[in-house]
Amino acid sequence: MEIIRVEKVGKVYKDHGVPVNALRGIDLTVEKGEFTVIAGPSGSGKTTLLNIIGSLDVPTDGHVFLEGENLTNKKKSELSAIRLKKIGFVFQAYNLIPVLTAIENIEFAMLLLGVPDKERVKRAMRAMEELEIAGLAHKMPNQMSGGQQQRVAVARAIVNDPLLVLADEPTANLDSKTALSLLDLMQRMNEEKNITFVFSSHDRKVMDRAKRLLILKDGEIAEEEKR
Ligand SMILES: Nc1ncnc2c1ncn2[C@@H]1O[C@H](COP(=O)(O)OP(=O)(O)OP(=O)(O)O)[C@@H](O)[C@H]1O
Ligand SMILES: [Mg+2]
Repeated sequence: MEIIRVEKVGKVYKDHGVPVNALRGIDLTVEKGEFTVIAGPSGSGKTTLLNIIGSLDVPTDGHVFLEGENLTNKKKSELSAIRLKKIGFVFQAYNLIPVLTAIENIEFAMLLLGVPDKERVKRAMRAMEELEIAGLAHKMPNQMSGGQQQRVAVARAIVNDPLLVLADEPTANLDSKTALSLLDLMQRMNEEKNITFVFSSHDRKVMDRAKRLLILKDGEIAEEEKR
């Protein structure tokens, strides 16, 4: 089943009036259950592509379809509602809300969606148990290690059973051992819950786990490998 279809997507940024071609003619389909890594050198367009897939940014050319629905002409408010329900994000710098505890961070999207108190706590605790971080529920982000914060971020990303999780260099700030155990957890979420993951990374450990590997070069898909 197709989740994402990217058609002839281009992105031109303006850098002090000078155009920068970050993406050129990208065609890409992501199917349910994929564990895909987008790799490529710094500046090749990985973050730009993930942001466009996740509707955090809009393409200059081309179209993005989520479950067959064209996102191109949607209003910002419609896009944020779609993101909230369907897409989980994991970032390089964790991006937890610093004034909320771990469990409050995980509950946050459900709060915006109007999920009742009890159900919110139940779902958040279940996600924390799955990621083996139940003990961290009442800790603040600055009381947790990087690896612990990233597990909370993954719990936050998966708690609403999203259609798709997008992770932009999720292991970049973690040591090897912590990175590997985070990858194990995401792989388990992929296998057990059939959650679709798309990562960007130039980390070998992440690339080695990919079921599908795309290499970006200068804003184009230069290579694709299926395992
Ligand atoms: N907001 C912006 N304004 C202008 N140029 C930008 C902007 N964001 C990205 N770029 C440029 O677009 C190109 C692609 O950037 P992008 O961040 O997508 O690359 P990346 O592959 O994620 O790199 P990295 O591995 O360093 O994170 C680069 O040339 C970058 O300088
Ligand atoms: Mg990037």
